Amino acid sequence: MPAQLIDGVALSAQLRAQVAQRAAALTAKGQQPGLAVILVGEDPASAVYVRNKVKACQDNGLHSVLERYDATMTQAALLQRIHALNADPAIHGILVQMPLPPHIDPHAVIEAIATAKDVDGFSVHSAGTLVAGLPGLRPATPYGCMKLIESTGVPLKGKHAVVIGRSNTVGKPMALLLLQANATVTVCHSGTPDIGAHTRQADVVVVAVGRRQTLTADMIKPGAIVIDVGINRNEAGKLCGDVDFAAVQEVAGWITPVPGGVGPMTITMLLANTVDAAEAAQHD
Ligand code: GUN
Repeated sequence: MPAQLIDGVALSAQLRAQVAQRAAALTAKGQQPGLAVILVGEDPASAVYVRNKVKACQDNGLHSVLERYDATMTQAALLQRIHALNADPAIHGILVQMPLPPHIDPHAVIEAIATAKDVDGFSVHSAGTLVAGLPGLRPATPYGCMKLIESTGVPLKGKHAVVIGRSNTVGKPMALLLLQANATVTVCHSGTPDIGAHTRQADVVVVAVGRRQTLTADMIKPGAIVIDVGINRNEAGKLCGDVDFAAVQEVAGWITPVPGGVGPMTITMLLANTVDAAEAAQHD
């Protein structure tokens, strides 16, 4: 029996409706949630991403500002903008789109964002709260993956989860979120000699590598939950993930498609983080 599809578009719509309701409630109290998005440079893919983020805010009743700067902007000028946004009571979340031009240190930029407004969850503080099991803002993509896994209704407690990829933005926080949900977690990466030996034991596999055909049908246990974070193009130029979807869906129990799986969830969780931050600001 082929796998059941985990529909990221449908789940996103559900969660965005909840976000919109919470945003409206805050707006009614004079505290509309606000997200500032900063783009430095002309990277065309980044320009599309930031436009989509701003549009998602508008569609769901959040205030948003998009600040676009030339690639020659100095690090000092960018830090100054962040400090101003840190002090702006209409802004509850600040997102600086990555990658930045090479003369700007991304760590310095991320650490300049006020902890309470770090809606990307990329700062050392936010990462630390995740490691320590404390409440905090979670990176949107792995947070969205957790929601997709939850939507299957399969409890994670005691399950073996394998994460392929160890980036600071997806792989590492993903592993920690799964651990917090009481899964037994293995992290595989480019230095792992036989990834299949691990994934064949897994009840849940999350693939975040950025290389198509990384997870093939012979690498998974029948019935497993497969979450595909990859966004690649195949030889024909068609969008595809890191998973050999056609073959893996014949073996898996659940699988996310690309497009329509993890992708829509990332912006949704960014909106949820912004509303969380705005609600928290109310209680300060
Ligand atoms: N570039 C690609 N994805 C992201 C993201 O989630 N946040 C930021 N800030 N930059 C990105």
